[in-house]
Amino acid sequence: MIDTGHHGCGQAGDAYATTSVASGLVARATIAHEGGFPPMETDPMPQATLIDGKAIAAALRAQIATEIAGIKAASGLVPGLHVVLVGDDPASRVYVASKEKLAVEVGMNSVAHRLPAETTQAELLAKLAELNADNAVDGILVQLPLPKHLDTAAVIDAIDPAKDVDGLHPLNAGRLAGGKVDPEHLLVPCTPLGSMLLLKSVLPALAGLEAVVIGRSELVGRPVAQLLLQADCTVTIAHSRTKDLAAVVRRADIVVAALGRPGYVRGDWIKPGATVIDVGINRLPDGKLTGDVAFAEAVEVAGAITPVPGGVGPMTIACLLRNTLTAFKARRG
Ligand code: GUN
Repeated sequence: MIDTGHHGCGQAGDAYATTSVASGLVARATIAHEGGFPPMETDPMPQATLIDGKAIAAALRAQIATEIAGIKAASGLVPGLHVVLVGDDPASRVYVASKEKLAVEVGMNSVAHRLPAETTQAELLAKLAELNADNAVDGILVQLPLPKHLDTAAVIDAIDPAKDVDGLHPLNAGRLAGGKVDPEHLLVPCTPLGSMLLLKSVLPALAGLEAVVIGRSELVGRPVAQLLLQADCTVTIAHSRTKDLAAVVRRADIVVAALGRPGYVRGDWIKPGATVIDVGINRLPDGKLTGDVAFAEAVEVAGAITPVPGGVGPMTIACLLRNTLTAFKARRG
């Protein structure tokens, strides 16, 4: 299962320093000499920098809170985020509660609309029409997945694109694909936005780098590929039908893993020094969360890597808040 979110503009990424919590030298192997000499250590290899998504997300939320406090002092207005949850999927309930809590913490007006699992398509569309028409509503997010009887594409189409803080409406997706947008005004999916901010925290200059995105979902793979292209990377989108995925990944200066399979990307696929953004959030049978990358292997080879948990995950909600502020400023700022 992939936790998705929103991508966003690159500029903010430059403003946040990465907290490197695990750089340093580690000895990786010892080899005993045949002649009985004392064991010799191989050259110590630097372990990858851990990209601290928790800290970077907290810094982003603090910046948003400061901006909202200023807006409130000047105008009395605060951005309004409305999250619609249909049914009682346990994971979705947890996500929605976190979104509500963090939106309040940055000073937004935060409302969750919890609708019963048997809500009809017409009822859900009527709720969206009501939110579209309400000027105090700046951001609308319909939590996915929806119950099977509902038509997700039609629901997303019904959200006012100016309030589409998920960046999933075809107009916003099309603008992103068109590449002619001002990133400060574009609503782009939150997990891709968060991934780009993490990437830019360790690699401010992306132009010309070889990026491989594994996964082609509407929520993550496709939009993150568009953002990397916009940042002048050479982008490959790999997927379940890609031949010799390991060889494709070995070319990459940047690997974005968003395929939803625990530990699938192995350490020996990673080019030494590459930056690895692990979007996967997979729950193992023992309850632990793990990413799509075999972390213990990859950390020995990569230049920088996001941990799971504590990497991309925290960025998703921070970027949702950022998109809500972006939508507020574009509509009412
Ligand atoms: N469910 C899991 N991730 C997401 C997301 O980013 N947006 C929405 N709308 N639903 C989700």
